[in-house]
Amino acid sequence: MVIGVERRMRDSVLIFGGTGNYGQFIVRSLVQKKIPVKVFTRDAKRAKKKLGEKPDYFEGDVLNRDSIIGSLVDVKAIIISLSAMHPKLIRKQKEIEYDAVMTILDEAEKAQIERIVFISIYDMRKELIDKLKLEIGYYKMTIEDRLANSNFNWTVLGCPPSFMIFKSFTRKRMMIVPGGGSPLMPSVAPQDVGEIAAQAAIRDDLNEKRFRMTSAEPFSFPDVAERISSVLGRKIKYRKLPLFGLKIASIVTYPFNPYLRHLVKYVQLLNNFPTDIAKQAVVDYKILKSNFEYESMSLEEYIRISFKQL
Ligand SMILES: NC(=O)c1ccc[n+]([C@@H]2O[C@H](COP(=O)([O-])OP(=O)(O)OC[C@H]3O[C@@H](n4cnc5c(N)ncnc54)[C@H](OP(=O)(O)O)[C@@H]3O)[C@@H](O)[C@H]2O)c1
Repeated sequence: MVIGVERRMRDSVLIFGGTGNYGQFIVRSLVQKKIPVKVFTRDAKRAKKKLGEKPDYFEGDVLNRDSIIGSLVDVKAIIISLSAMHPKLIRKQKEIEYDAVMTILDEAEKAQIERIVFISIYDMRKELIDKLKLEIGYYKMTIEDRLANSNFNWTVLGCPPSFMIFKSFTRKRMMIVPGGGSPLMPSVAPQDVGEIAAQAAIRDDLNEKRFRMTSAEPFSFPDVAERISSVLGRKIKYRKLPLFGLKIASIVTYPFNPYLRHLVKYVQLLNNFPTDIAKQAVVDYKILKSNFEYESMSLEEYIRISFKQL
């Protein structure tokens, strides 16, 4: 069902996951550029509260093929930024993050939509995906292969954890990190991903390109705790917590909800981030700056905006 659409949307950019952590910033950047954007969401009223009146909304569910088909009318480009990393959705992770994406690509092909921007994970290192048995890694890898072998004009944006992750590990005066995190890890402001994805969606000169989204430098968690302390003007202590407790909790809760198990894998990924890839972030950032026009948001600026209530 299309909600609030009077103007023509022949050239609109359709975004799946436009209300999400990254998606909301993609939508805002598109709106700011006055590009017609259609947000595919399960709840248009809730989405409108978050994103305002400017975008059009298509209320549907990606688990329903007809709903996907209906959303593709008058669409020029598609951005896919879906995720099921939520306690209520995690049981359907494969259906949402893999099966539905394949259905979107099937139907987009039939509807002759050429331009696809796919939000993926930072890097595709198979040894690491195998080591951690990271289901999400296999899904993304297969989708990226599918794009590479398609006739779409496609671009993949590989995302690291956004700066939000540092906030989620920080409570009042303490940053508590299970396992302590890797010595170095790339990270990025969701605002930067929003701007880059919006630009990518309306360009057609980025076919078959894969970019790694990153800020100017990689960080360690203790390093970030220091920076938060310095921006907020009060000491935020860093504490490494053993991963063991979280693992036990994930085993105990698994029969009721597999979410914690997925969270443990995610935290293990944060603790096993390959140092050589992290070091490469400085070069990856230069590549972004030479391909996209944007003012990158520094970690300090992000802390100033988002950590006020700590
Ligand atoms: N966040 C990170 O730090 C991070 C790091 C690396 C990679 N990524 C990648 O970035 C992408 C986006 O992640 P995110 O964290 O921004 O996601 P998120 O905040 O969890 O948002 C999930 C989005 O998926 C949509 N969705 C879920 N189930 C749906 C369904 N059945 N039908 C229609 N829409 C559905 C939701 O839309 P509604 O609720 O409006 O229906 C929501 O907009 C993912 O591909 C993820 O793998 C994220």
